[in-house]
Amino acid sequence: YLLPLLAAVAAYLLGSLAFAVIVSRLMGLSDPRSFGSGNPGATNVLRSGSKPAALITLLLDAGKGLVPVLLVKAFGAPYGLESGTVGLVAVAAFLGHLYPVFFRFQGGKGVATFLGAVFGIDWLLGLATGLTWLIIAFFFRYSSLASLVAAVFAPAYFLLGDRLAWQADAPLVMALVVMGLLLIWRHRANIDRLLKGTESRLGAKKAR
Ligand code: G3P
Repeated sequence: YLLPLLAAVAAYLLGSLAFAVIVSRLMGLSDPRSFGSGNPGATNVLRSGSKPAALITLLLDAGKGLVPVLLVKAFGAPYGLESGTVGLVAVAAFLGHLYPVFFRFQGGKGVATFLGAVFGIDWLLGLATGLTWLIIAFFFRYSSLASLVAAVFAPAYFLLGDRLAWQADAPLVMALVVMGLLLIWRHRANIDRLLKGTESRLGAKKAR
């Protein structure tokens, strides 16, 4: 169990790099924890007005989920690391983003890191989940709503797609469900605002 544990710790440390904060600082923008939703994530960086900064944050935060999953898949087998470890590093990177050791455990909501991990688990599943996010965001203009729907649909697609495109084995299903539930939990303030009709829409610069 030493190797999976080490892999999980490395993934957690990588996940702990809050790129919304790091990228904003490097690009001379305000700290995303100080305006808008206060969330260190790509959506809130977008509210600073910088699309490039938001895109870079999105890609780097997604990379935190993608890279550990791909590394275990590519090099794990000779060391006996299988889908259990793939699921473990995905969840560890995700937890790093939510509760980063480098940022007093005050992290983000995990959407980009979740998407990255999902792409790593299966690129087709990632594509389906990403498209789901885009479609909801396009029609409803709420990033949070798109994230919540994607979190529910990713494990559902995974189970539906079993037999067709991939093997939805138990550790990966569990990892997707755990990440999906935590993602929803981290959006509880957004859910409250969505129900009250006060959630800020994509494209609106000033936000609550
Ligand atoms: O990426 C997180 C998104 O779902 C919501 O972010 O800043 O609107 O709370 P935010």
